[in-house]
Amino acid sequence: MSRIRKAVLPVAGLGTRMLPATRVLPKEMLPVVDKPIVQYAVEEAMAAGIEEIVLVTGRGKILIEDHFDRAVELFETLARRGKRAELEELVAQTPVPGAIVATRQQEPKGLGHAVWCARHLVGREPFAVVLVDDLIDAPVPCLAQMVEVHARTGGNVLAVMEVPFEQTARYGIVAPGEDDGRVVEVRGLVEKPRPENAPSRLAVIGRYILMPEVMDELARHEVGAGGEIQLTDALAKLIGRQAFHGLRFEGRRYDCGDRLGYLEAVVALAAKRPDIGPAFRALLAQYL
Ligand code: G1P
Repeated sequence: MSRIRKAVLPVAGLGTRMLPATRVLPKEMLPVVDKPIVQYAVEEAMAAGIEEIVLVTGRGKILIEDHFDRAVELFETLARRGKRAELEELVAQTPVPGAIVATRQQEPKGLGHAVWCARHLVGREPFAVVLVDDLIDAPVPCLAQMVEVHARTGGNVLAVMEVPFEQTARYGIVAPGEDDGRVVEVRGLVEKPRPENAPSRLAVIGRYILMPEVMDELARHEVGAGGEIQLTDALAKLIGRQAFHGLRFEGRRYDCGDRLGYLEAVVALAAKRPDIGPAFRALLAQYL
């Protein structure tokens, strides 16, 4: 089975659910504790063996690219002040040249369109898609869990989790086939169905391992739910032609595109930090 070397991170979204913080600041740059949301995604991808990150950006998102660049003045100042540990950590977090590339979506036409914009950079090989808003805290990084499944099953692998029936209209929903409780065969996919039309309550979460043929489907630019070019619709067309599985990943997912989900991520990750966790928990108790 071919290795997954590239990951597409669509980061062109406007972040209207997080206004006014996102008037100028890309939503992906909001910190969860002390690290921008996008850095969690990049670290997860790297931990899964990804060698090249393709950012699909838009106007006003240049800070994301700057964040992963060598901050020459900062590095020099830290070195001069003898802050060895801080410097080493920043250097280790900086991807090697060529490991991050960016292209622009130009128009907000949906997730499927954003992925299609990366087609020349991805080429004809299986690749990952990571939706940065879905921050997943897991003992084994979620994408690494999926890479391991892909190595066995081949084909497309989606991260899935059960959601309450009343929330099906927020997600791509799977029509499940054979199911061993962890890996489930995908027999159908529907984007954001109302509960009465949902084939299950198994929702797609923002991690995908995809076969390159999805780009051919996306190239048709067919408009789906919400008037957008949907990744889910293009994937649905591949079912039956290629292996297609969902993985009930191990770990906790936080929807950082939403105020409450974002706050939950901050609280959960701060509370488990060895350095500030104990003091933070004591502080939090005052508010409960
Ligand atoms: C996107 C996908 C949807 C998926 C979700 C996961 O929706 O279109 O199928 O379930 O991400 O977070 P969005 O959240 O961008 O509306």
